[in-house]
Amino acid sequence: TNIAVFASGSGSNFDAIAQEATAGRLPCQVKVLVCDRENAPVKEKAEALGIPVFSFRPRDYEQKADFEAEIVQVLKEAEVDLIALAGYMRLVGPTLLKAYEGRIMNIHPSLLPAFPGKHAVEQAIEANVKVTGVTVHLVDEGMDTGPIIEQEVVRIQATDDAQSLQKKIQQIEHRLYPAVIQQFVEGEI
Ligand code: GRF
Repeated sequence: TNIAVFASGSGSNFDAIAQEATAGRLPCQVKVLVCDRENAPVKEKAEALGIPVFSFRPRDYEQKADFEAEIVQVLKEAEVDLIALAGYMRLVGPTLLKAYEGRIMNIHPSLLPAFPGKHAVEQAIEANVKVTGVTVHLVDEGMDTGPIIEQEVVRIQATDDAQSLQKKIQQIEHRLYPAVIQQFVEGEI
């Protein structure tokens, strides 16, 4: 299975997936990193692992359909079967959704449908909930909507703040995302 990871940020999930694949523990290949931010640290992680990067600036295009058509071209050339969004801070549009229907996943730092959007960890702290977690789901046109594939719970302790909670969540993400990708490879999704 050939994977493309889309990421705009620090890339710890990208790294977790790519390391598992490179070590042969995940029977797939990360063929390309797609990145929409010039200075994203994730790009250095890809370069260190020798994974090609497709980097683009959304403002260079008139509309989303234009850069997504270019992305689809890159993915086809790399014979990508599965897209894993990992901190790609952008809604996927119809061009990409149609080309990869049912084959785009996202990881989100809450138990969806609670706390969608960019501030899920802070919002869980503010809401004083006692449990939150991690969700991996298939992507549709909505923000953090789409069929849920897997979830894992994290208990919030009285001593937790957004930073410590984020750390616990990310540890789970780095294990859960490769495991769900494995399920996809085995045809279970
Ligand atoms: C993760 O927490 C993920 O749940 C969210 O974005 C974050 C990306 O972190 N969608 P990283 O760049 O993989 O470290």
